[in-house]
Amino acid sequence: NEEIPHEEGMDHSIALLQEGYLFIKNRADQFKTDLFETRVLGKKVVCMTGPEAAKIFYDLDRFQRKWAAPYRIQQSLFGVGAIQGMDGQAHHQRKQQFLSLMDKRNQERLAEMVTNELKHSIPQWEKEEQVRFFKEIKNVLCWVACQWAGVPVKEEDIPDLADDLISMVYAFGRVGPEHWKGRTARNRTEGWMENIIEDVRSGNIPADESSALYVMAFLKDEKGQHLPAKKAAIELINVLRPIVAISTYITFAAVALHEHPKTKEPLKEHNSRNLEMFVNEVRRFYPFGPFLGARVKEDFTWNNYTFKRGTLVLLDIYGMHHDERFWETPNQFDPNNFKNQDRNDYSFIPQGGSDPGKGHRCPGEGITVEVMKATVDFLVNKMDYDVPAQDFNYSLDEMPTLPKSGFLMTNVKRI
Ligand code: HEM
Repeated sequence: NEEIPHEEGMDHSIALLQEGYLFIKNRADQFKTDLFETRVLGKKVVCMTGPEAAKIFYDLDRFQRKWAAPYRIQQSLFGVGAIQGMDGQAHHQRKQQFLSLMDKRNQERLAEMVTNELKHSIPQWEKEEQVRFFKEIKNVLCWVACQWAGVPVKEEDIPDLADDLISMVYAFGRVGPEHWKGRTARNRTEGWMENIIEDVRSGNIPADESSALYVMAFLKDEKGQHLPAKKAAIELINVLRPIVAISTYITFAAVALHEHPKTKEPLKEHNSRNLEMFVNEVRRFYPFGPFLGARVKEDFTWNNYTFKRGTLVLLDIYGMHHDERFWETPNQFDPNNFKNQDRNDYSFIPQGGSDPGKGHRCPGEGITVEVMKATVDFLVNKMDYDVPAQDFNYSLDEMPTLPKSGFLMTNVKRI
């Protein structure tokens, strides 16, 4: 068994929070390796980067998700006992239910609903002196997500629900008040959705059989029993929350359009492929998911290193998307990075790798891409706006992050 570089010192949890998206890449570059050991939260952690490592990470015989996410992350981001921490047959069964809701037809239906809601919102934005796009788009996506999923929510409750769903996401790499804000938001939303689930089960609230609300309300465990209403609520939130979180990518997309105006030209051709290249480049270039975590299932050896059962392993996402070995000009925003291929391989994993039906790769990737395409098309071809001076910077030591201004627009007009 060969030794791999390991970082000296008792614990690097604080460095992880401070260096954020670059924690793994900084060390991989320093040690000139794709595999090293460090210590986080008082325990040995193995960090990996690169497509080969990503492929191993998705080998279901070698890695499991049970016990991978710290409890504090379950209590804020995922929900306790949610699909993210399941394995084996139980995971597979649950995953099929998620995937059944997100086929091509459903992706397109959601994207169409987003376009319609954007059209609806324009008259209000035209009246306002200044629009903060992140704030607007998160409300648009929250409203559409609830409609699409069949969740009955009053229009006036949307801004608070959207804020709560965003707080769960932004609690991720944070300690103190922002972590607690995410937990409070989760408790409140779980309680609310739990009541809705109970009303669907008792027939007090009608639900279409093909809707996410219905599918989640009647989820079964391995023994064929309905899940407790709270667990069903957690999985329903696992549909609503990430749809609203697409507003982070969309805000980055608006910044990209502004800072790289040449990339707009191909988007005026109403060509779906050009839109797809653009949104893929947004998902590569800008930071969102920093890394993934899993635990070694049984001892195994890879690259002459023995992974010990139970060890927590982190797979780099952000660093790999900015690695010159896999990308020609990693630090430039250029949709042509996706010209010759879809990069549906292990070097492009903004929403995980491998087959979503077999492992934990995001089931919502098609939805994300279609919603982003519809919104970018709207920004380029269906509305006009000025971009006043503002701070577009985002910090790589906050996980997740966002352009500071949230993207301000003035003189918004429908075209
Ligand atoms: C899993 C990213 C949007 C639902 C994941 C994973 C990532 C991810 C990195 C984990 C992959 C792994 O553990 O191997 C994103 C990003 C999104 C997004 C960056 C854009 C905002 C969505 C959408 C939905 C969704 C729109 C649903 C409507 C899920 C679910 C899982 C998941 C349910 C857990 C899957 C499992 O454990 O098997 N996502 N996602 N995500 N995502 Fe997404």
